Amino acid sequence: MRLAGKVALITGAAAAIEGELMGFGGQAAHIFLREGAKVVLSDIRDELGERAVKILREAGKDARYIHLDVTQEDEWEAAISFVVAEFGKLDVLLNNAGVGHPMKVEDMPEEIWDRELDIHAKGVFLGTKHAIPAMRAAGGGSIVNTSSVMGIVGSPTTPAYSAAKGAIRIFTKSAAIQYASEGIRINSVHPGYADTPLTDGRFHDPDFRAEILRKTPIGRLGNAEDIANGMLYLASDESSFVTGSELVIDGGMTAI
Ligand SMILES: NC(=O)c1ccc[n+]([C@@H]2O[C@H](COP(=O)([O-])OP(=O)(O)OC[C@H]3O[C@@H](n4cnc5c(N)ncnc54)[C@H](O)[C@@H]3O)[C@@H](O)[C@H]2O)c1
Repeated sequence: MRLAGKVALITGAAAAIEGELMGFGGQAAHIFLREGAKVVLSDIRDELGERAVKILREAGKDARYIHLDVTQEDEWEAAISFVVAEFGKLDVLLNNAGVGHPMKVEDMPEEIWDRELDIHAKGVFLGTKHAIPAMRAAGGGSIVNTSSVMGIVGSPTTPAYSAAKGAIRIFTKSAAIQYASEGIRINSVHPGYADTPLTDGRFHDPDFRAEILRKTPIGRLGNAEDIANGMLYLASDESSFVTGSELVIDGGMTAI
């Protein structure tokens, strides 16, 4: 019960059905619930998210679902109010929503650049902005931002994604410094290549899969549990001296 008594909000968490391929947010929801938290899952894939939460609630879990497009400030306000109305407070925010557009710079329409930056960088900023007052009211909290190894090293295929994930990494450190004295910790997680709904199509291309396996010294790709276990650590009080840090979970990829 590493999150006993905690209330968590997770974005990009719709892929949370046991027996189907789960995303990091969906898997984190399961692990946070197992560890005693009350959890609000959110996403823009409402049908999937609602189905996942129905199954969790039928199993007796304290889970809720709310639609939340992370690029929309009014939806953030509504989501934080919903969490506090349902469960009384907010202790943990997992900013996890994401998209990926493999593309060369010269072929990239401006809209794709804006979309990557909006969902990742602006989404994390808006979530942090609106979580802080609720966490202050709760006496502190933990914000965990899903960046990527591509926010640390350059990406040969996804330059806008890499720029957006890099923005998350350094925004995390700046916000962490601002709120450390109030007991609000803010850290980033940097997953390497992992099988999730987001990567399902692309990672099945045998040539691409062989290439990314070659880049991963541990010799296998990651899975949602590998990443969600790190998120659990940062969400829990076990990491109470950790803020502004980056947790790399990549099978050794960036150690090369
Ligand atoms: N899978 C990997 O290899 C990998 C590696 C590094 C980082 N990541 C990051 O991990 C995070 C989770 O991705 P995942 O791989 O678990 O896949 P996932 O598909 O389960 O999660 C992404 C979710 O974000 C949601 N989303 C997209 N746009 C949104 C918006 N505007 N508002 C709210 N939700 C939105 C999607 O509907 C989806 O459910 C993402 O930020 C992704 O960039 C993934």
